[in-house]
Amino acid sequence: MSQLPLDAVLAEYTGAFNAFLTEHALPWLQNRSVPALAGPMAYSLDAPGKRLRPTLCLLAAGADPAARPFAPVYYAAAALECIHTYSLIHDDLPAMDDDDLRRGRPACHRAYSEWAAILAGDALNTFAFELLARPYAHGVGAPAHDLPNLADLVRILAEAAGPSGMVGGQALDVENEKTGVGARLGEGERRKLLETIHLWKTAALIRAACELGACFAGLSDRLSMRAWGERLGLLFQMADDWIDATGDERLAGKAVGKDAALGKLTYPGVYGLSAARELAEQCCRTLEAEADALSPGPLAAVDARSVWKRLPRYVLERQS
Ligand code: IPE
Ligand code: IPE
Ligand code: MG
Ligand code: MG
Ligand code: MG
Repeated sequence: MSQLPLDAVLAEYTGAFNAFLTEHALPWLQNRSVPALAGPMAYSLDAPGKRLRPTLCLLAAGADPAARPFAPVYYAAAALECIHTYSLIHDDLPAMDDDDLRRGRPACHRAYSEWAAILAGDALNTFAFELLARPYAHGVGAPAHDLPNLADLVRILAEAAGPSGMVGGQALDVENEKTGVGARLGEGERRKLLETIHLWKTAALIRAACELGACFAGLSDRLSMRAWGERLGLLFQMADDWIDATGDERLAGKAVGKDAALGKLTYPGVYGLSAARELAEQCCRTLEAEADALSPGPLAAVDARSVWKRLPRYVLERQS
């Protein structure tokens, strides 16, 4: 099978996912939501994000991005993107990171208002679970016996999003920033706290993206996909820290150079720039080596195994 450039492969998945949002998720949202919520929810969801989490989910499921009608896994992919988008809306609020720019546009609370952004985030959080359950409703999509167990999907997503996942990581991150707890720890403890923050606030949802996709593929070996996804998520946040420390606001589509000023625990801050880069390189090489052992799922339009192998370097070297 010929090998498409990774950018082209990812663009196919992003395109398919955006089409699902436009044709299914957003109209459903608009129909059932009061305008005061539908406006800011759609504004943030429809903004040009990289769609990494849905793409990982679709890839792990072996979904063919050219296939129509959309497979049921697209609902899980959209649920992941809703949780992620809500985390970004709340992350940018003045009480948290206080950022005005997101995905190259004014942050939700700047385009609307703080109250609208808080409630739009809350609503995206619960809308995610409506989406996840949607294919199980009578008359929608595949027969339920062809779908993975819904309780498994709910548990995987809720664990990744909740108090020992994304929200827990955000709480540790902001608590450290506001109280300086990390600075009072010994070096080993500080490094451990940094790793926990990154694993929870970012890696957990990326882990869930891989694991949810593996559920739809019916993979017997979900655990190696889950572990690989978590490590990819850690690398993703290491690269995010790197972008903040060295990147360009126009390319990133968000403010850079703020983490150090706010006293955030980051890899460049805790280890120094060159050691942080080396740690990220090591993490990337481990992921590349482990990708060979991943069960690629049913091959779709792309050679999934080669995509898994090339993803870590894409995640590390991205500029946005
Ligand atoms: C930004 O996530 C927040 C982190 C968890 C690091 P992304 O870099 O995936 O943001 P979008 O979705 O592309 O805007
Ligand atoms: C955010 O981490 C992680 C989330 C769960 C949103 P950051 O605060 O570093 O993300 P950016 O840099 O604002 O996108
Ligand atoms: Mg933050
Ligand atoms: Mg932030
Ligand atoms: Mg950041």
